[in-house]
Amino acid sequence: MSTFTFPNQYPLYLANRPVISNEWLDVTDKFSLKKVTQVALADNTIINQAIDAAVKAEKPMAQLKAFQKQAILLHCVRRFTERFDELTEVLVVEGGKSLTSAKAEVLRLISTFQLAADAVTQLDKGAVMPLDVTETAGRYRGMTQRVPVGAVSLISPFNFPLNLTAHKIAPAIAAGCPFVLKPASLTPVSALIMAEVLAETDLPIGAFSILPCHREGADLFVTDDRFKLLSFTGSDKVGWDMKARAGRKKVVLELGGNAAVIVEPDTDIDAALDRLITGAFIQSGQVCISVQRILAHQDIYDELKTKFVARAKLLTPADPHFASTVIGPMIKEKEAERLKGWIDDAVQQGASVLAGGHLNGVLLEATVLENVPDSADVYQNEAFGPVVILEKYSSFEEALELVNQSRFGLQAGLYTQNLNKMLKAWDELHVGGVIINDVPTFRVDNMPYGGVKDSGLGREGIRFAIADMTEERVLVIKQ
Ligand code: SIN
Repeated sequence: MSTFTFPNQYPLYLANRPVISNEWLDVTDKFSLKKVTQVALADNTIINQAIDAAVKAEKPMAQLKAFQKQAILLHCVRRFTERFDELTEVLVVEGGKSLTSAKAEVLRLISTFQLAADAVTQLDKGAVMPLDVTETAGRYRGMTQRVPVGAVSLISPFNFPLNLTAHKIAPAIAAGCPFVLKPASLTPVSALIMAEVLAETDLPIGAFSILPCHREGADLFVTDDRFKLLSFTGSDKVGWDMKARAGRKKVVLELGGNAAVIVEPDTDIDAALDRLITGAFIQSGQVCISVQRILAHQDIYDELKTKFVARAKLLTPADPHFASTVIGPMIKEKEAERLKGWIDDAVQQGASVLAGGHLNGVLLEATVLENVPDSADVYQNEAFGPVVILEKYSSFEEALELVNQSRFGLQAGLYTQNLNKMLKAWDELHVGGVIINDVPTFRVDNMPYGGVKDSGLGREGIRFAIADMTEERVLVIKQ
């Protein structure tokens, strides 16, 4: 058991400094539902001040040398490592994450900052360009460099309160962009601890603000033209609405999915089982690339179904503090009830429940469904909970088609030993990433990560986020 106890209050961070405001937001333990602390809330005046400060910090941030940015990022790596146990406990309590998932996320936080520290000395160096391609330009030469876009607006989600926040902050520092970040209201403490660490660095004043605020207050994060880029991770509905209101700024959207994995008949089911269970139920399925649909070839469907259902039935939702817990609470009762409603509705439409299906407060059992009609919410939309659908197919082409019918396209998995099928899936699946012989839930923090269709716009993964946060500037010299 951790020895960490929450302080009574956390300040917000305005222009690198802790600030107590007039309004507070309660933070609860997602399993016991008890209040554990409160965080200072930003109002419009504070958000405005943060944007002003970020704009003033554009020049000093752009002037930071690579070695200075690297020192800042490495300071974060060191301090997050020193505060490992505290960060783990915060994730378990405010995020309801199992101990195993929480530790894994803190490790990823550290590695994401390390990747940014490595990348900052190897940024795109630009190019020398011959411009003598027309008669009139015969005496001109060109050179390019990438420059930071300026102040950026970052909005991070509740499901990875540290690492998905790191995927916005670390590249912003590496790119030289001041930022104002709104953490998820359900899990703001993680980001405020990151702010404590950033405040220990030599970042220029105004370089960062971390501001918990109400959703209505968050409007400026979307609409204010002083921001040059908005990076949002969250639901598809909210994300596309933001894009419509974002004006001239660049927009990067990491949205949801209903990820599928195809299991071909040449698969060793026993070997794949652990990963299929993890992919479907880790973090109670509250992962954008959680396995929501398992498409199994008809020759192995019955074997997979029997073995998978038996394993799913062993998962009992429990206190996330226990080392053995896989399924902890869903983030809030309303979300658990929403998903339980989707399950019941699918059953009304003809689906069968093979495992789970019961809800107790915030604890939803690991649920396995089959015969789910494609009109059901749980089939079409993002479940974002511990629910998986089994589907039978008869040909590989049919399986690809079933994946592509989704309105989402984040990642897809494929189990097969056949190289041609691997390549065909890579060529033909409409997704941001195809994962072979593993579940779509696989992610390493340096790979390009993002979706197509309703799943979003642009890619994260340190190098790709830095590219978004910088732009080309050309120098032309006449001889
Ligand atoms: C997500 O839920 O989009 C992030 C998944 C991950 O980083 O593993």
